[in-house]
Amino acid sequence: MPRPHYVAAIDQGTTSSRCIVFDQAGNIISVAQREHRQIFPKPGWVEHDATEIWQNVEAVLAEAVSGAGLEDGQIAALGITNQRETTVLWERATGRPVRPAIVWQDTRTDALTHALAEHASLFREKAGLPLATYFSGPKIRWLLDQDPGLRERAERGEVLFGTMDSWLLWNLTGRHLTDVTNASRTMLMNIHTLGWDDDLLAAMGVPRAMLPEIRPSAEVYGHTRDGVPVASALGDQQAALFGQTCFAPGETKSTYGSGSFLLMNTGQEPVVSKHGLLTTVGYRIGDGPATYALEGAIAVTGSLVQWLRDNLGLISSAAEIETLAKTVDDNGGCYFVPAFSGLFAPHWRSDARGVIAGLTGFVNKGHIARAVLEATAWQTREVVDAMNADSGLDLTTLRADGGMTADNLLMQTLADVLAVPVIRPMVAETTALGAAYAAGLATGYWPDLDSLRANWHKAAEWRPAIDEAAREREYRNWKKAVARTLDWVE
Ligand code: G3P
Repeated sequence: MPRPHYVAAIDQGTTSSRCIVFDQAGNIISVAQREHRQIFPKPGWVEHDATEIWQNVEAVLAEAVSGAGLEDGQIAALGITNQRETTVLWERATGRPVRPAIVWQDTRTDALTHALAEHASLFREKAGLPLATYFSGPKIRWLLDQDPGLRERAERGEVLFGTMDSWLLWNLTGRHLTDVTNASRTMLMNIHTLGWDDDLLAAMGVPRAMLPEIRPSAEVYGHTRDGVPVASALGDQQAALFGQTCFAPGETKSTYGSGSFLLMNTGQEPVVSKHGLLTTVGYRIGDGPATYALEGAIAVTGSLVQWLRDNLGLISSAAEIETLAKTVDDNGGCYFVPAFSGLFAPHWRSDARGVIAGLTGFVNKGHIARAVLEATAWQTREVVDAMNADSGLDLTTLRADGGMTADNLLMQTLADVLAVPVIRPMVAETTALGAAYAAGLATGYWPDLDSLRANWHKAAEWRPAIDEAAREREYRNWKKAVARTLDWVE
């Protein structure tokens, strides 16, 4: 009997790299995971070691395949999904990174983004993005500005740029490529033509010679040393949209990881936001048309729970936040706005810094834990309000996924503050699943989108359980706390 085949996906995230092997029904067969160091050289700076990340990716790939008792020949395709925007520069000749990778959360480019303000409408119209420290373009420019020698080498194509998808594709296949979803986060790609744009490159001051070739999200880019086709690359949030099978316009998902990202499929036309959302590419399968999305990006949600664990020692594991929050009935009047990387959608204020507001002697660590979970819910509410205003449609249900959705109190709080049901699918690992689906489509492992939809099953649903007056009172308090985060950095 022939041995069964599977699809593997690498999920290169902000805090760890994982490899997950899926079967044809979308079930998880095996998982391997390794964390990498978070390097904070100065307040507001966040770096990763790209070499460490590549070594972790190689290790988890081998562990996930051997952990399931599989041989390489049983992996029909390998997909990649990744933390977006994080910027790696490396030498073409040696493949060695020339500087530490600058992570998407890093705010060192704040002054630079202000200096680029005269080009704000160009970036909005052509790249679909507001000027913010979040995206790759300002990070590349900052690195090149530090060192004229580096800029000259970049102009000669000796030093290359890539987001994590490019870095992994380079190491896996030897080719310098990126996919269209990752490219849409650089501020250098024209979202209408899906190519690098001379006006954007000139405004940002980035040489074309250092950029990867932009490819669709699903096609065979090359093969690993063991002959496995590498057949998809998507930014992690776009991969989650795909893994949640949000293939029709209006379908929306929200993923709860270190940050949280709500994406709505808007079909084959880019929709320019008037309410602080991002216009981004959702996916492009082979030579087909691109599908676009509107995105509400929230910088800090799960990473606030980690901060409580690592920087304050209030909990010893992330899962304990729920137990601690349940020791009290409410937030005790306390609100926590985690503007650690400034505020992303819908505010886009890099000068904001975090606050805990409403403190009295009554507040204990249980109340703080509750305020931490509520911060995720209220930030989602702000993004949903913007999404409703931009799309003219009211969200009717929220499909949630990602690590934090294991927290049932958070799921109930989300339903309460959004006033819509919140649904968790059977496979909450939708990011890796989306990359697996795209790789499987590119190689014929799955025939079409309908076969993927058939794999989606609801696991649990939470319904709103607080009254409107309480919801609106809490929302007003949240907004007061947000106002206190602004204008902090001069
Ligand atoms: O845009 C940043 C995002 O891609 C990071 O996702 O899941 O690694 O926090 P995550």
